[in-house]
Amino acid sequence: MDKFVVYKSTLKGEVEISGSKNSALPIMAATLLTDQECRIAGVPDLADIRTMIRILESLGKEIVFDGNVLFVKAKKKKTHVAPYRLVRTMRASFCVLGPLLARRKKAKVSLPGGCVIGARPVDLHIKGLQELGAHLIVQKGYCIAEANILRGNHIFLGGTFGSSVLATANVLMAATLAKGETVIEYAACEPEVVDLALFLKKMGAVIEGEGTPLIRVRGVSSLSGAEFKVIADRIEAGTFIAVALATSSNIIIKGANHSHLTSVIETAKKIGADITIEGSKIKVKGKSLLKPVNIVTLSYPGFPTDLQAQFMSCLCIAKGLSLITEKIYPDRFMHVAELNRMGARIQRNGPYAIIDGGGGIFGAEVMASDLRASAALVIAGLVAEGKTEILRIYHLDRGYEKLEEKLKKLGAKIKREKQ
Ligand code: EPZ
Repeated sequence: MDKFVVYKSTLKGEVEISGSKNSALPIMAATLLTDQECRIAGVPDLADIRTMIRILESLGKEIVFDGNVLFVKAKKKKTHVAPYRLVRTMRASFCVLGPLLARRKKAKVSLPGGCVIGARPVDLHIKGLQELGAHLIVQKGYCIAEANILRGNHIFLGGTFGSSVLATANVLMAATLAKGETVIEYAACEPEVVDLALFLKKMGAVIEGEGTPLIRVRGVSSLSGAEFKVIADRIEAGTFIAVALATSSNIIIKGANHSHLTSVIETAKKIGADITIEGSKIKVKGKSLLKPVNIVTLSYPGFPTDLQAQFMSCLCIAKGLSLITEKIYPDRFMHVAELNRMGARIQRNGPYAIIDGGGGIFGAEVMASDLRASAALVIAGLVAEGKTEILRIYHLDRGYEKLEEKLKKLGAKIKREKQ
């Protein structure tokens, strides 16, 4: 297993944002809706992408992945089973259920189970697909689904924590081949859902309202292959905004769509960054004095839960009391204990974390846990006095493409070593 060794750094320069992991994954699943070839560009080379490639290959796809471009073709042999050994490594694999059901009339997909950021229920996925006429049972950790015919329906997809990104994706994909019209009420509005809808429309799907809580789909009899380029990764861009904030650095973030980051940019400005937009460039000037703020994570366009940990690292050095309320994954605080080992003064109580910032942050040996918590530890290492060693960085390799190279190019003192 690899580790990162990180020292206090001041950064300067430009960074190019990779394609969005969370857009690419459901779009890859959508290729199951057709036997024709699909060409998807801008796909980041990540562990999670390679896991999804293995799942699609086990489901009868032939895939070539070269230079961030995926070529997906149908092979002769087709199964309908997504195995536990693959699904357990990546919850997002569950979004193959909808397209498999719609195209092959049956599917057997391992339930994702929980993970360090909390329980990962799939009740909304199951509810939505059942309301399209599918018969689903849960047996020995698998969701087994059958549907001779899917029929359009009016589906309310809101849950205890509001909308669900991948439940919206699953139901949206299944609805494209259902008979009649489907309305998805309380749909997720994330840019990655919009990207999926745009890809499906390129395949011939009839969809409107994507990006709003009300999506309408008129089912068609079949879908064709398509060419597409996924959007830039707004969470990676937001992570670099947090890096500039924490290290009081001037960083130009290239290739991101700033309109996907409004809540993040607003929050960064409140904390103390000067941010200007010039076309596809987000210019961030971190200031030495950071101010404490109150952050509440919400579904899009609210502040994203996937940037909560990274901004917590910034608030550790903002003198005063900050409050973070995690409304999406109330247990997503694995980074708190590790940051406290570095001298942060954070108190967690349920979905709330109070950060008493402004004390020193000191290098330590810390453990990565989930993808975004690991990024938070890298940020803390870039501001800490002394050496920080971050163990188990395979978590980072799941969702950040060439992170240490991008940071090194900006002047960061970071290197990857064998643990
Ligand atoms: C997507 O996960 C992202 N993953 C997550 O990013 C992200 O944190 C999350 O959306 C929220 O924005 C991908 O897109 C691959 P949800 P998803 O269903 O779709 C509850 C990362 O770091 N819920 O929108 O699985 C759920 O427990 C990853 O890149 C139900 O109650 O998340 C949560 O509280 C981590 N029932 C809330 O909804 C369900 O059936 C939002 O989860 C489904 C979800």
